[in-house]
Amino acid sequence: MRILSGITSSGECHIGNYFGAMSQHVALQDQGESIYFVADYHSMTSLRDAAERRRLVREVVLDYLACGLDPTSAILYRQSDLPEVCELTWILTSIAPMGLLERSHAYKDKVAQGIPVDHGLFAYPVLMAADILIYNSDVVPVGQDQKQHLEMTRDMAQRFNHLYGAEVFRLPEPRILEDVAVVPGVDGRKMSKSYDNTLRMFWPTKRLKKAVMNVITDSTPVDEPKDTSANVFQLWSLFATSEEKEEMFARARAGGLGYGDVKKDLLERMLEYFGPMREKREELARHPDDLEDILADGAKRARALGSPVVAAAREAAGLGPST
Ligand code: ADP
Ligand code: TRP
Repeated sequence: MRILSGITSSGECHIGNYFGAMSQHVALQDQGESIYFVADYHSMTSLRDAAERRRLVREVVLDYLACGLDPTSAILYRQSDLPEVCELTWILTSIAPMGLLERSHAYKDKVAQGIPVDHGLFAYPVLMAADILIYNSDVVPVGQDQKQHLEMTRDMAQRFNHLYGAEVFRLPEPRILEDVAVVPGVDGRKMSKSYDNTLRMFWPTKRLKKAVMNVITDSTPVDEPKDTSANVFQLWSLFATSEEKEEMFARARAGGLGYGDVKKDLLERMLEYFGPMREKREELARHPDDLEDILADGAKRARALGSPVVAAAREAAGLGPST
């Protein structure tokens, strides 16, 4: 089984990325041939600062390693180290129906908000399809918000195979962690690198404390019953057992529980949960040269798996001399 996933390096990773993606990636790494990458080409749709792009790739790599990714077993690489993916993107772009791409939530949301969009954002799902199809990936573990992208990937694969009459691409299966709901941000919207509403597990304690204390709550007085669907409880629940959750929710419903106490406990739980990862990251950050070695080795191994698929797509589409 070939497992493939990636994270866009458009910002620093947060606990939404951790629960929705990274922890799954790490848990799956021994269950097959695992390939994970840092999507810096994708970051170009939102980030225009070259130095920041390079810095963020390294940050995401450090995060992945600190969270337990083992680069001697899983492949870990930087997307732009494999420019072949851009060739495959073009091959898929030329068979991707406009109607399919126009249905993309990510694109439609930006248009609805009146944000000017460029072609890169529109074509984002095609680049993502190329990332996946280039390895004939079987399983793609992602958060719920990426489900549509995977459906589009399957559509494009099927269409290419049909139009060129060749079984070049394998249809991948999404692996969505159903019990990990979308992690809310401090403002109650989806936690996202693009909303400035994140809790980052690797922030220094002081900064993390400030962010946790700033989780937005309503103005229900301490004595009164609390709404347990509030984002502060959802965040807290990520670090609690179901018995602890039941007990906390009963206290919340009874009244007499202050949000401040929930936040303090949330901070403590986060520091404990991520403690070993925070230590590991500090150690890894002391050896920055090792990161490039890991990425170079990852790109080499990824290329060995991806090249035959690109060659098959070229052959089927009649590109270059016949082989
Ligand atoms: P962001 O929205 O912060 O830019 P990405 O789009 O780069 O995050 O997502 C990387 C991975 O993390 C994806 O698999 C996505 O589903 C998951 N993810 C992102 N935000 C959340 C969230 N708030 N809750 C759960 N999973 C998330
Ligand atoms: N779009 C994904 C995200 O923002 C990142 C990504 C790019 C990805 N290419 C991928 C995820 C291929 C899975 C497979 O999270």
